[in-house]
Amino acid sequence: MKKEVLVSDIAPTESCRHPDMTNLLRIINKHNAAGGGLIAILGEIQDEYGYLPEDVLRIVSDQSGRSLVDIYGVATFYRSFSLKPRGRHLVCACLGTACHVRGAPRIVDELERQLGIKAGETTADKEFTLETVNCLGACALGPVVVIDGRYFSKVRQSRVGQLLDEARNGFDSAEAAKDKRIFALNVNCPHCNCGVMDETFALDGLPSIKVNVSHGGKEGALWLSCLYGSYSVAAEFDIPANVIVPFCCPHCERELTSASTCSMCSAPMVHMLVQGGGTIQICSRRGCRNHMLDVA
Ligand code: FES
Repeated sequence: MKKEVLVSDIAPTESCRHPDMTNLLRIINKHNAAGGGLIAILGEIQDEYGYLPEDVLRIVSDQSGRSLVDIYGVATFYRSFSLKPRGRHLVCACLGTACHVRGAPRIVDELERQLGIKAGETTADKEFTLETVNCLGACALGPVVVIDGRYFSKVRQSRVGQLLDEARNGFDSAEAAKDKRIFALNVNCPHCNCGVMDETFALDGLPSIKVNVSHGGKEGALWLSCLYGSYSVAAEFDIPANVIVPFCCPHCERELTSASTCSMCSAPMVHMLVQGGGTIQICSRRGCRNHMLDVA
């Protein structure tokens, strides 16, 4: 196990200017002790600071023994990481082919006009960052816009202002559940076709998706939000970050792992059937947020 790092262990350097050193070391030590990987460390730093400051990455390099080149490789590979400070709200518009032909460029133009910035920029008041991506995995529902982790489907130019207002005021889970532009999924097991929705356990104000998982000799239930794009999750026992867990149907107990692997971390994908047609695929690695929806 790696030695715990103390603030006093770190020699002050010109590049090490980050004020909250104790908190940073707490994050590094926590993941070192749990045997966690670089993605888990960077993920928590991103959550904590809103981006990955250069001086912080230098400290991670010093304390984890990884080269700065490797750290930057990971930090620039995953879109969820940012090397620049982002605004309080992150707006991400899809410009992939399917969304493009459904009018996504007009949505981006409208977002740029209303926010007064170009894609890739942050507003002067640090409220909004606007980014574009090439596919969000929900092509049949384009144009797709993700705001603060919430997916909005079939977005129209006329609704852009309303979405930005709602983001400013904070999305409410209960309201989100009623909002037809944020879509909820009801899913079935691909083997026995039984529904795996749990009416008794709510996440984001809606029935959750219940599967069985196992890790470290423990077995129990894992609940996922049925709102596409929400990362709300609950489990009967702690699952460390970066661990790949097998998902099983709570009815037939067969594994839900599919033949495909995650495009972001190479872990096996888990797949389930969407009631009404299509499939949903979710990465089986704890902490990886990759998921793909294919609506028939
Ligand atoms: S092209 Fe936009 S979600 Fe795939």
